[in-house]
Amino acid sequence: MPLNTLESLTVDATRLANELDQLATHSSTPAPSVTRVLFTQTDLAGREYVRSLMADAGLEVIEDPAGNIFGRWVGSEPSAPRVGSGSHCDAIPHAGKFDGTVGVLGGIAAVRALRDAGYEPRRSIDIIMFTSEEPTRFGIGCSGSRLMGGAMAPAEVAVLTDEDGISFDEARKTAGYDGDLADVVLADDDYAYFVELHVEQGPELERRQLDIAVVSAIAAPASFKIRFEGKGGHAGTVLMPARKDALVPAAILIAKAEELARNSGSNDTVATVGMVDVHPSAVNSIPREVTISFDVRDTDLATRERIVDALIDEAKSLAEARGLGFKLDMINSDPPIAAAPEIKQAIEESCDAAGLSRCELVSRAYHDALFMARKVPTGMIFVPSKDGISHRPDEYTSPEENARGVDVLARTLAKLAC
Ligand code: GLV
Ligand code: MN
Ligand code: MN
Repeated sequence: MPLNTLESLTVDATRLANELDQLATHSSTPAPSVTRVLFTQTDLAGREYVRSLMADAGLEVIEDPAGNIFGRWVGSEPSAPRVGSGSHCDAIPHAGKFDGTVGVLGGIAAVRALRDAGYEPRRSIDIIMFTSEEPTRFGIGCSGSRLMGGAMAPAEVAVLTDEDGISFDEARKTAGYDGDLADVVLADDDYAYFVELHVEQGPELERRQLDIAVVSAIAAPASFKIRFEGKGGHAGTVLMPARKDALVPAAILIAKAEELARNSGSNDTVATVGMVDVHPSAVNSIPREVTISFDVRDTDLATRERIVDALIDEAKSLAEARGLGFKLDMINSDPPIAAAPEIKQAIEESCDAAGLSRCELVSRAYHDALFMARKVPTGMIFVPSKDGISHRPDEYTSPEENARGVDVLARTLAKLAC
């Protein structure tokens, strides 16, 4: 179908904004915060809403054993490798309503806009809602896309366990997702291309007053947990020379992470300790066991590895010097990816056709695209985030900004699927 039919392409910004609002009502914390954790009641209600939007857009709804949801627009050549787009609808505790959701509901809106413009795809187009991009419940992000991209073995995902001791396998089955997790893994020719629309989650587009970013690469994320095991005791009676406090080395290590990231020589290094678990956590009790989580990222893999290694070495030395037990739990250590040139070009041409301004940006957040890229040429489209804020209730992208992203996504899908 000639792409000049897209001259009449229009995106209904108000409808998409209303749908994002409606999805945000499925939250386990009060508005404006959104919390939607994998396979909880709110996640299941959100999934139901997404399926209804897909069906309403005329998409065939398919679900895999991991709970990834696909809305398929069957093309005129159904056996040709498909074009995929999508993102996630789970939300970390006290998040906002745009992270991930814009890529899923925006993908469905792109299909509606293309249909209304009279476009008919040759390749089938799948709008995908990936299972748990966020690491909230099972400790590791992107379980759905990791499985699809072959970045984690089905048997490893199955035994991931939440804080109540429930495994991923039990949780997905309770949520109604049966079948063999091995069937989730993509074949090399399932998809020809994958493109994800997402909010930037950083300040650059707003600062430069531009509409769209064409993502050039996704930074490499790593996360791990370190546990110090000391000796507990009475906060009044155990004198300082006799102490084996497990929290003090953890505190030193947290400061070390900041120092290493600040002085890595790269602007792109970031290190975060977002969780500290202190046992027994009582004001008059010496901490006996402390677990801290690290999230370390850089666009340059070697720099990230250097910082991760230095932190682990430091943790071991602190434990040794203080006679404490030490345990390392490496959760993920992913390489960065570069966007596929042909997809970047399709996005750039789509921006130009839509009369929208653009730049290239690196994604410092990770996305399902990081794992789809293991199997499929992949690209990403960013729309602005107000004040660069994300993972907070006040995350905001305007209806018009989202609609511009959907416009570019629709044009890009049309190019890739024809
Ligand atoms: C995704 O939410 C990330 O932490 O980058
Ligand atoms: Mn997120
Ligand atoms: Mn996201």
